[in-house]
Amino acid sequence: MEVILTKTYDDMSNAAAQEIARQIRKKPNSVIGLATGSTPLGTYKELIRLHKDEGLDFSKVITFNLDEYLGLSPTHKESYNFFMWDNLFKHVNINPENVHVPQGLVEDAEEFCHWYEDEIKKAGGIDLQLLGIGSDGHIGFNEPGSSFGSRTRVKTLDEQTIKDNARFFDSIDEVPHFAITMGVGTILEARKIVLVASGDNKAPVCVQFIEGPLTSQVTASALQLHPQAIVILDEKASVQLKRKKYYNWIRDNKHTVKKYLDR
Ligand code: F6R
Repeated sequence: MEVILTKTYDDMSNAAAQEIARQIRKKPNSVIGLATGSTPLGTYKELIRLHKDEGLDFSKVITFNLDEYLGLSPTHKESYNFFMWDNLFKHVNINPENVHVPQGLVEDAEEFCHWYEDEIKKAGGIDLQLLGIGSDGHIGFNEPGSSFGSRTRVKTLDEQTIKDNARFFDSIDEVPHFAITMGVGTILEARKIVLVASGDNKAPVCVQFIEGPLTSQVTASALQLHPQAIVILDEKASVQLKRKKYYNWIRDNKHTVKKYLDR
């Protein structure tokens, strides 16, 4: 796991946007997995700027979102479908046919989950998956206890997640209790993973999943098993890390390693 320590929320967002932009420039028809929530908003803002100012081309990009609340229509203002169009898709030249967000109003959710997994496979798998992290350590909506082998399915939200997400709704009673989410196993199959975390409230969980034991009680710790996982934190989210010095040492010596490898 590569840990990148940045100072501010904007630095974190720009670093994550650069990772995504690099992937799209290298492979214009990249399959990108996307997340919602407050944390990636700055990353999406920077991707929009890169599109407008530097011509970052989304025309061949294929996207798969991690999750959606069960029971919300795509036009509901708190649905993740609405969020993605509002905060990214409508501002870039993405082909709507290449956009995949789980649907919250499906008749047969189980069948839909199988279809979603098949669509990811048909697209050739996810090249880069962007993730946020919940204060209970979830990635996607894989709440504590989710198997590391889990696939796209319906998940019951944890009480903590319902409380955390109530800020987006008029009242806590309106927060859905179920969601469709890619599984931890689905996420781990992405060829590259970029997780962003920001703010004091994420500091305790960041030290747990980066430096703590591998446990399904903190599903983000599964990233320790991934060969290409990059974690980008702002200063507030990183305050409890014990090995900060080492992470910065790696950053500062990257060019030296490269020289060795190039010899
Ligand atoms: C959203 C998602 C969630 C969020 C997490 C953090 O698609 O998959 O795992 O990334 O709940 O949300 P924020 O960024 O709002 O703290």
